Amino acid sequence: MTLDNAAQMTDPRDDALDRAMARHQYSGDALIEVLHAAQQLYGYLSAPLLRKIARRLMLPPSRVLGVATFYHLFRFAPAQHHSAVVCLGTACYAAGGTDLMATLRCHKGAGWTIEAGRCVGSCGLAPIVIYDGKPMSKVTRAQLEARIKETHDSGDTAPDAGR
Ligand code: FES
Repeated sequence: MTLDNAAQMTDPRDDALDRAMARHQYSGDALIEVLHAAQQLYGYLSAPLLRKIARRLMLPPSRVLGVATFYHLFRFAPAQHHSAVVCLGTACYAAGGTDLMATLRCHKGAGWTIEAGRCVGSCGLAPIVIYDGKPMSKVTRAQLEARIKETHDSGDTAPDAGR
């Protein structure tokens, strides 16, 4: 491959993102849809990607960043292998959510993302932990520790593999 060829190669994701923006006539009103498309394509929203979106939609970068950071569903770094979101809404907080958060922080290994979340609308099943994308309800510390041990023992370091 020559340098000329390398310069001409483009990332197919760039074209797909461009098509997503074109579908919305590059309208700033479609910013959230475009951010969704970008995250689906690239896995997360990097700073250069946000700048590119701002340029293409002719929006101030500060607005793009403001919208992206307002919504919890957008990521700004590559996803880790395992994730746990502990609901810390009122019901889950009162039912021991912070203890579960502490348990996760004590037992996690490398490659984990642990976050506090807002009410997921299942307060009657508090406390809730979304563990690798699946909800665990009325979770006790012992159940969570067992689940973490299961994860570690399985040696599964890539829950997204094969999806
Ligand atoms: S507070 Fe956790 S589900 Fe409502």
